[in-house]
Amino acid sequence: MQVVTTKKKPIKIMDTIFRDASQSKIATRMRLEDMLPIAEKLDKVGYHSIEMWGGATFDSCIRYLNEDPWERIRELKKKMPHTNMQMVIRGQSLVGYQHYPDDVVIRFVEKAAENGIDIFRAFDALDDVRNLRTAIETVKKMGKIAEGTICYTISPVHTMDLILDKARQLEDLGIDIFCLKDMAGLLAPYAASEIIKKLKKSLRVPIHLHTHDTCGMGAMTCLKAIEAGVDMIDTVLSPFSEGTGQPPTESLVMTLKGTPYDTGLDLTLLAEIADDVREMKKRYKEFETDLGGVDSRIMVTQIPGGVMSNMVAQLRQIGALLRLDEILKEIPRVREDLGYISLVTPTSQIIVVQATLNVITSERYKIITHQTKELLRGGYGETPGPVNRELQKKALKGEVPITCRPANLIPNGMDRFRNELRGITESEEDILIYALFPHIALDFLRNRHKGKS
Ligand code: CO
Repeated sequence: MQVVTTKKKPIKIMDTIFRDASQSKIATRMRLEDMLPIAEKLDKVGYHSIEMWGGATFDSCIRYLNEDPWERIRELKKKMPHTNMQMVIRGQSLVGYQHYPDDVVIRFVEKAAENGIDIFRAFDALDDVRNLRTAIETVKKMGKIAEGTICYTISPVHTMDLILDKARQLEDLGIDIFCLKDMAGLLAPYAASEIIKKLKKSLRVPIHLHTHDTCGMGAMTCLKAIEAGVDMIDTVLSPFSEGTGQPPTESLVMTLKGTPYDTGLDLTLLAEIADDVREMKKRYKEFETDLGGVDSRIMVTQIPGGVMSNMVAQLRQIGALLRLDEILKEIPRVREDLGYISLVTPTSQIIVVQATLNVITSERYKIITHQTKELLRGGYGETPGPVNRELQKKALKGEVPITCRPANLIPNGMDRFRNELRGITESEEDILIYALFPHIALDFLRNRHKGKS
């Protein structure tokens, strides 16, 4: 047996069951009532953390589940008092799809922390560290744990130096943990080994790896990362694992058992909880989005599994599923035009929608979406590579692109939102729901006590 270290180094595990796995496997439809009985058991496992909020969960609560997203934190906290509750936050876009004013970002992070979030994983779709500053500073001010994140993607501009440079910028912001986020499962095992080794040499903070099993490499990548010195790994209980989910928790626990990396987690207890989870998952059959097994198209297009499954569902709806292969070929071309941005929320949606339009209108950029234009204008921040200048000119029609942190140009909004909700609600949590999703928030706030939709 080859074990790279003899020093004891228990690997810390975050289970993604209530957030990423629900998002990747059952279109973020998991309800709080199904989480609570499982949460109680998960609290006994000794996980480093459970990812249970952020990403698409907030939107889904309001849009589909008629569930108060804030209540979700409070109720889960009651069932998991001994386990860190972790959320993922899209930097200045929080849990939405556009940049919000600084005062909204500050209030949102404060309220998430007050309600019970312990660890905030903050990422920016463009890896523009300026877009993470307000969120990370607020996490630190609230005395919580800030996990600064860089998205892993493959492109001619994404060099090791770029990752190291961004990681150091995050460390300068005062992060407690660095996370490498492989949202599409593209990080190959040996690449992981090399990157983690270099990050370990260069950073002082612990390193957390987030990956997916979409390309069938998840578990191998985790193992090589562990041997290279990674400190924390994301997995999910087996019923939600593999494919677009994370590698299975139980398998990693068993793999590391008796080695210096032993997680110390109880396999019997995990197997028992997995049984409950398997039963629970049956209630979401209609939302199962996993294309199943390894999807080698993702190796070429780099589309995260969750995005792929949504795209398939939407194309089916508009009767355009036959064009899928053409769209998959168009996606890398659009990505190149947009400065090799990563495919992660919200840029994945921007690229996918634009590529779809480019194909179904039979003319590239005949229609340029508002979001594509905004990206070309610099409204989401600095792209990793230069954008296609011709396309930029066509989209901006004479408007001058911006180079500052985009939120510098967004006026504060909390007072206005408070005023607009006068007579409806005074709760800061409610006002934040409205600040993030104004179009659906009012209906939600009026109807939320009327039972489930
Ligand atoms: Co993910």
